[in-house]
Amino acid sequence: MEKACYPGSFDPFTRGHLEIIERASCLCSQLTVAVIDNPAKRHLFSLEERKEMLQQGVSHLGNVVIDHFQGLLVDYLKDRQIGVAIRGLRDSSDAPVEMQMARLNRQMSGCETLWLAAEGQFLHISSSFVREIARLGGPYQNWVTPLVAQRMEAKLAQ
Ligand code: PNS
Repeated sequence: MEKACYPGSFDPFTRGHLEIIERASCLCSQLTVAVIDNPAKRHLFSLEERKEMLQQGVSHLGNVVIDHFQGLLVDYLKDRQIGVAIRGLRDSSDAPVEMQMARLNRQMSGCETLWLAAEGQFLHISSSFVREIARLGGPYQNWVTPLVAQRMEAKLAQ
């Protein structure tokens, strides 16, 4: 496969995301990690912060680029001439909404979605639980990269 895109919020980027990016990067010649820029949604980290943490986290992967998009994912993919979106599936509870998105995206533009099954040690990780546990003073550091942990601490200290 030539180009593929891994879209998401990445608020923040976790080791679960990293595992999917590493595996997806082996399946295509160029993987674009596309961070959603949705000004209507309140994120913990700004778009620039989310992109910077990703950039640093994937610096060992030569064929991964970090980008962002606004609006419909399918419009972004069309503009970049990318035909395949990649998403990670943790367990069956992820499936209904992911299938719905995949079908909608395909009906809107013909874009295909490939799912990668997340590895066992990452099944319980989500950005929202990382944010919640960090806010409540729990140990979340093993689920993110050192830079993300550093940025979380700084953000929560503000
Ligand atoms: O990391 P997330 O929050 O699960 O990522 C969800 C994301 C950003 C991939 C999805 O919400 C998305 O593609 N949003 C862009 C708007 C869009 O295309 N909506 C129609 C989806 S069928």
